[in-house]
Formats: sequence, structure tokens, C-alpha cells
Amino acid sequence: MKRIAIIPGDGIGIDVTREAVRALETVSGWSGAGLRLDSFDYGAERYLRTGETLPAGALERLAEYDAILLGALGDPRIPDMKHAADILLGLRFGLDLYVNYRPIRLLDERLCPLKGRAPEEVDFAVFRENTEGLYVGMGGIFKKGTPDEIAIQEDVNTRKGVERIIRHAFEFARGRGKNRVVMSDKSNVLTYGHDLWQRVFAAVASEYPGIEARHLYVDALAMQMVKDPSQFQVIVTCNMFGDILTDLGAQLQGGLGMAASANLHPGRGALFEPVHGSAPKYAGKNVANPFGAILTAALLLEHLGLLEEARRVESAVVALVRTHRTAQELGGRLGTREVGDALCEEILRPSSPA
Ligand code: IPM
Ligand code: MN
Repeated sequence: MKRIAIIPGDGIGIDVTREAVRALETVSGWSGAGLRLDSFDYGAERYLRTGETLPAGALERLAEYDAILLGALGDPRIPDMKHAADILLGLRFGLDLYVNYRPIRLLDERLCPLKGRAPEEVDFAVFRENTEGLYVGMGGIFKKGTPDEIAIQEDVNTRKGVERIIRHAFEFARGRGKNRVVMSDKSNVLTYGHDLWQRVFAAVASEYPGIEARHLYVDALAMQMVKDPSQFQVIVTCNMFGDILTDLGAQLQGGLGMAASANLHPGRGALFEPVHGSAPKYAGKNVANPFGAILTAALLLEHLGLLEEARRVESAVVALVRTHRTAQELGGRLGTREVGDALCEEILRPSSPA
């Protein structure tokens, strides 16, 4: 029996997680895989009510689960996003989930904003360092609000942190039979932190002689991702650049509404979340595209070793996209719940998905 913690969060996170949960329940019913889902109410409502973001003991409780599925966080009533940063970054840092795995896969040609790209031409994985860099919150503001104000935000790169994400990218490549890894930095300007990335990349790459190790500055990588995404198999980069590049990548696969992600510490914790945000404007209106959350649930199943179930869910999404049974965002006419209904039908359909 696998145990999964569900944190729907805020806004459309609640709408899309409901459908992702139905997909998990339906596919586990179909295959007989035992899943136990427990829901947690961490998010804006709870914060506004109690002042708590991640309550005491939450990390320890969540760490006992085989996986966590998170919807999205963000609420206009909390303009500084304090609760979102506390909860999302709190989980990433607190559970030391150092791998942010974001697959960029085009499921159907129609979804790609680039002309004439077939699905197999947009199929790569981005590994974003997830516990360091500009995200650690080191620094400060001096003489705030005066004309002499100084703001410093430190970019923290440790050998351990850089090495473990780069190694993970190579291990992933080897495990999936890929033979190209690109590391992207800005070492021509960030001559300390990204010099470290350069040296560690060269050292780790030398342990994987069958895999081509290529370097691209991040500005060049952004350009190449648009120019010819088919050249990429595995990309590894720092926290900040990974954040930016994966929004670009999401667009290549049809928009933020299609993008899935996993925050991992192999052998320990795993937190899954769609890349999109809480889109408060659309919350509760039954319009959000649930595919990002559903594909994230498929990643979660894959992580739990439920490969057949993961494929079943993904194939069902592909079938829905091909037959235009989608939310408006993708040009369809269905609401969030109706997409979920169609998806569950597709999962249970005897002859397909193929
Ligand atoms: C993401 C988001 C987060 C990030 C925000 C909400 C803190 O943009 O998961 O990509 O910057 O990591
Ligand atoms: Mn982001």
C-alpha cells in the first residue's frame, strides 16, 4: 500500500488536484494498485485563519508518505506570497528535495507554438537544482527606503549541492539510455559560483564516458531551446535558471497548463506539483486545464514504480488531446470536471489507450 499526501493548496490548485486525484483513484482501481490518499489543508485559507503556513510537525508527518501531490499556492489576499514561499520552499528545503525534475514533452504537434515540430522533436528533461542558488534567501537590505539603499541577494553554490544534481542528471541519462547531457550556467560572468559548476561538471562527466557532456551559457540555451529543441535530451542547471528555462520549456509543450514536475531526494522524499500557479482569476470556475496536474500524477505513479498505471494515465491525456476533449485553454469546450470525467472513461476503456 502506497501512501500519498495530497495538498490541493489555493486557487485552481484545488480544481485541478481534484481531477488528478480522481485519475489516481481510477487508475489504481483499474490495476488493483493499492493507494491511500490523505488530504492536507495547507494553503491560504488555513494561513488566514490560523496564521500557520506549515504547522509544527508537518515536515515530519509528510516525510512519512511515499509521495506528496501539491496543487498550487498563491492567493491575492496574501500579496507577498509569504505562505506560498513558506510552504513550497519550506518543503523543498525542509525535505532537502534537491532534484527538480521537469520533463518537457510535446504530446501532440498541435500544442507546440513552434512550426512543424513533431512530438519526438520536443522530448527532454530539465534537472533544476532545487535547494541552493539565489533561492536560499541569504542577503539583506541596508538603509532601506533611503536614496543610499543597498540590496544584496547571495547566490549560494556548494560543491555537494552542485555535484549531487549534476550526478543525478547523468544517472538519469544513463538509466534512460540517453547519451547527451547539457549543463547550463553563466560562468562567463558569475565567475565564482558558476566556475564551481564548470569544474564539477567536468569531473562528474569524466565518470560517464559514453555520454556527451556539453556546456551552453544560459542565454544561448534559451535561444537554442526555441531554435531546435530536438538537440536536447537532458539539461542540468541551477535553481534560478531552471525556473526560467522550464517556463520556456512548458510553452514548447503547449503551455504551463501541460507541464509536470517532481521535487525529489532519491531514496527519501518526493513532492509532485504542476508547474503552473494558482491562477486566482479562474479558481472555482471549472475552466482550468487539469492536464498539468494529471500528468504530474502520472510522474508520481512512475516514481512509485507503477509504470503501467503511469502510462495509462498519460496515454489517456494524449487520447483526449487528439480528440479535442480538452479545456478551453487548449481549444476544447470542456470544463475542468468534464475533462476529468472523459479522462477516467478513457483510463477504463477496454480497448484503448493503446
Ligand atoms: C516554480 C515556481 C516557484 C519557484 C515559485 C512559486 C516560488 O515559479 O515552481 O517554478 O520559483 O520555484
Ligand atoms: Mn517557476
